[in-house]
Amino acid sequence: MQYSEKVMEHFANPQNAGVIENPDAMGEVGSVICGDIMKISLAIDDATETIEDIKFQTFGCGAAIAVSSVFTEMVKGLTMREALAISNDDVVTELEGLPAVKVHCSVLAEEGMAVAIQSYYEAHPDKTPPEGLAEKIEHLKSVDPHAEE
Ligand code: FES
Repeated sequence: MQYSEKVMEHFANPQNAGVIENPDAMGEVGSVICGDIMKISLAIDDATETIEDIKFQTFGCGAAIAVSSVFTEMVKGLTMREALAISNDDVVTELEGLPAVKVHCSVLAEEGMAVAIQSYYEAHPDKTPPEGLAEKIEHLKSVDPHAEE
């Protein structure tokens, strides 16, 4: 099994690890394959619905930690709508690939982000959530990650 240099770099020196105090949104998800867990906390600018800050805690394998690190770098500064459009395939591409048996680890970040975004809109019923948010979460929960291996 071969990891790219970028995976090794993010695993050895993860960016945005930790928790935001008094976050505006939180997402916690677990992998049905391995039981690993990822938590995302967000600081959001209410006026622009932009992700001002993001931190993660991942209780999981090295690939999941690298995924969490690169994903948080990719979405920082984006609007939540833009962040929602980033898929696990985009994350794998950014990491210059993952071994096939580790692709399921990349789904954690995409799902954690979607759940965190959902928590923001639940707390702000006056705002309109991004189109397709609930469907995306439903889909990610029902995905059989083995199908991607
Ligand atoms: Fe569990 Fe990678 S093996 S997230």
